[in-house]
Amino acid sequence: MKVLVIGSGGRDHAIAWTFARSPRVKQVLVAHGNAGIAQTAGCVPLKTIEEMVDFAERERVDLTFVGPEKPLSSGIVDLFQSRGLNIIGPSRQASRLESSKCDAKVMLRELGIPVPEFAVFSEAGPARQYVRQVGYPVVVKADGLAAGKGSLVCSTVEEAEQAVHEIMEQRVFGDAGARVDIEKRLFGRELSFFCFTDGYSIVPMVAAQDYKRARDGDEGKNTGGMGSYSPHPWLDDGLVGTIMTRVAEPLIRGVRDRYGLLYRGILYLGLMLVEEGAEIVPYVLEINIRLGDPEAQVILPRLETDLVDICEAVLAGRLQEVRPVWDPRYRLCLIATSGPVKGKKGWYKGYPDRYRIGAPIEGLERIDPGCLVFHSGTGRDGDGRWLTTGGRVLCIVSAGDTLAEAREIAYGEMEKISFDGLYYRRDIGKE
Ligand code: GLY
Repeated sequence: MKVLVIGSGGRDHAIAWTFARSPRVKQVLVAHGNAGIAQTAGCVPLKTIEEMVDFAERERVDLTFVGPEKPLSSGIVDLFQSRGLNIIGPSRQASRLESSKCDAKVMLRELGIPVPEFAVFSEAGPARQYVRQVGYPVVVKADGLAAGKGSLVCSTVEEAEQAVHEIMEQRVFGDAGARVDIEKRLFGRELSFFCFTDGYSIVPMVAAQDYKRARDGDEGKNTGGMGSYSPHPWLDDGLVGTIMTRVAEPLIRGVRDRYGLLYRGILYLGLMLVEEGAEIVPYVLEINIRLGDPEAQVILPRLETDLVDICEAVLAGRLQEVRPVWDPRYRLCLIATSGPVKGKKGWYKGYPDRYRIGAPIEGLERIDPGCLVFHSGTGRDGDGRWLTTGGRVLCIVSAGDTLAEAREIAYGEMEKISFDGLYYRRDIGKE
């Protein structure tokens, strides 16, 4: 079987690696990939979804799996399906669950799914007025796609007003900031929960802890994710049941029966678990229509069932027959980013702010083969030497019988990597 993976980040590297492990897969191709992914799969320089569908047809690709949200929101699934090609992911319309934070929150509320108190604004004046009057800390979210950086977590009214200004008036996230979702900031424990679904049946995966803030102790700006681990310490069968009955099932059933959207593929629930009396309430902070980055890097290495079999069941609408098997051992992912560094024209603050690229990366060949290295932003120079090409550069994924063991291994291996400006959080997996 020939599989095409769409994407070019660490998550997409992990997806390609997972398919490459399948005895049913002869060839894995990635559009467009990166220099690190090229060690695992054949990278093809396709840019548009039209180029991708032409390629898949011409090369007789049997299965396409989409990593990032952008091609999904642009309608890649609709396009492939219109040409009779097998592809995993939701349609363009169903992708609104991620591509519009505002519409998604309204739908969730209408479906009776727990969400923080929120309001939607398309003008800065009323938004500013709202954050002055609510009397609690808020999170201001750009409506559209912003590479995981569009949620500004605010502690004071001044910060909230500044967030409204940056998103709606300065348009720091471009047109994604034409509307905002302003929601009550909840305090609890975040959990990234993933399911496979064929639009009727829903099969939960294992969950992961993501670390979204740039600095230790959950300080600093929101990023796409600075590290992760799985299993999640809070997730037992009881909590899985609660999340399925209170969120995943009413959501998939509701978007289908009430809004006419058959949601197929991966469902990613960004949840805040809040203890209310004797129960834990899973509030939905965000819905994503794909695997997380860096959650996929710790979840997929734990998947013992062939991902091809699961994808086929999704496509055939017989997911109820599938019971995925997971390795119980811990995986921990530590992301190396392009951090603060001095350039010719002054300081670069580093990811998620402006960062410098082109720094030579040393030490990759010394990483223990028991760990996985997935690449997000790497390239090679004419002599084959590794260079940084992005804000998130690469990650190390370790395995351990305990979280502490996995943590010790990942941090030990990361010490072997060096490049100018290398920055990583020191508290991933530190409970
Ligand atoms: N790790 C967060 C995301 O993938 O959106």
